[in-house]
Amino acid sequence: MHLENSRTLFLLICLSTLAAALDDHRRTLPSRKRASQTARSVPSAGFYNPLEMGGSMLTIVDGTFPAGQGEPLNIIISGNSDAALLKDQETDGGLRNYWLSFEYAGECLGQHAGSDQAANLGDGNGVLNETDEIRYDYGDAQLGTCTETINGGGHFRYWTQNGKDANSGAIFMASSYEEPLVDEHDIIPNGYNLGRDWIIGNITGTTIPTLNLTNSSTYSGTTSYGGYTYSTSVKYISGLLNNTSDGVNHNLTVMTPDSNATDGLVALLEVKITGKPANSA
Ligand SMILES: *[C@@H]1O[C@H](CO)[C@@H](O)[C@H](O)[C@H]1NC(C)=O
Ligand SMILES: *[C@@H]1O[C@H](CO)[C@@H](O)[C@H](O)[C@H]1NC(C)=O
Ligand SMILES: *[C@@H]1O[C@H](CO)[C@@H](O)[C@H](O)[C@H]1NC(C)=O
Ligand SMILES: *[C@@H]1O[C@H](CO)[C@@H](O)[C@H](O)[C@H]1NC(C)=O
Ligand SMILES: *[C@@H]1O[C@H](CO)[C@@H](O)[C@H](O)[C@H]1NC(C)=O
Ligand SMILES: *[C@@H]1O[C@H](CO)[C@@H](O)[C@H](O)[C@H]1NC(C)=O
Ligand SMILES: *[C@@H]1O[C@H](CO)[C@@H](O)[C@H](O)[C@H]1NC(C)=O
Ligand SMILES: *[C@@H]1O[C@H](CO)[C@@H](O)[C@H](O)[C@H]1NC(C)=O
Repeated sequence: MHLENSRTLFLLICLSTLAAALDDHRRTLPSRKRASQTARSVPSAGFYNPLEMGGSMLTIVDGTFPAGQGEPLNIIISGNSDAALLKDQETDGGLRNYWLSFEYAGECLGQHAGSDQAANLGDGNGVLNETDEIRYDYGDAQLGTCTETINGGGHFRYWTQNGKDANSGAIFMASSYEEPLVDEHDIIPNGYNLGRDWIIGNITGTTIPTLNLTNSSTYSGTTSYGGYTYSTSVKYISGLLNNTSDGVNHNLTVMTPDSNATDGLVALLEVKITGKPANSA
């Protein structure tokens, strides 16, 4: 076995002995989300456009070169999704259970590996650090995100639009696909657009033709976890992000001859819970 792999394996074995003990703990870590002060009111679009309310569709990243670059908020879960789904919890079919349905989970043993990014969704909450960072779990909800932390892969940061000026309850996600830890977690070529589309691909069971997408592309699919079944409709929309590399974090290595660092499209998801465990209320 390759030295690096055996080290990784050893690390994973050590971590796994800790996992059971820490797992309960991780579910009760203090949350960085801000509770909403106003009743939710959802516009027909499913979210309020941050650009019209002094916000931005790029995250705020510390220490970029040049300064001021951000990462695209390239997936939105519509506020018109089922209310139970929009709740940031693993129980009752909430967001964290939905993410598990396409094999994304909280970070390795509750340890936060990446640096925080912030965003302003224009909802009156101002600039807020990410609520959490969620990683591809390689099919293992307990320890798979440890593999992601080491080997790289899909991940996203997210924020909820729930401030007093624009409480849609929509979830804004900045997704990307990163290189292994040894490469300091740079984003792979075209890694924002691909990170988005591999998530959509896994939700819909379809290979998304990233380079051929337009603002009329739509997909749908069904996923399930823990007895809950989710039906997701996806619409790619334009107008929220520019089709450009300008101002996008890591733009020099992420852009390719065929695609800008961000192609200007956001995947808008509307999610309905279509099945529940027999024992749920
Ligand atoms: C936000 O994240 C930054 C960078 O990780 C950190 O320095 C800062 O303390 C965080 N702010 C809050 C309010 O948690
Ligand atoms: C599902 O996700 C994995 C890991 O990100 C990716 O390699 C694969 O291409 C995705 N599947 C589809 C159909 O997009
Ligand atoms: C993209 O469109 C081109 C031209 O229409 C076509 O040849 C190609 O097969 C398409 N690629 C995918 C992945 O759909
Ligand atoms: C789709 O994009 C085209 C430009 O490529 C634009 O003219 C059109 O208004 C957009 N449609 C929607 C529904 O956003
Ligand atoms: C796109 O770029 C133009 C020119 O820099 C800017 O005025 C506009 O606000 C940008 N649009 C979006 C959606 O970011
Ligand atoms: C990358 O973004 C910076 C601004 O943040 C811009 O000056 C530079 O031209 C961009 N590079 C490319 C290749 O678009
Ligand atoms: C990238 O965006 C620029 C405008 O910022 C555009 O001129 C160029 O054609 C785009 N390149 C690709 C590959 O989409
Ligand atoms: C981005 O702009 C390039 C150049 O105009 C164009 O070829 C490409 O189709 C655009 N991408 C999207 C998703 O509209």
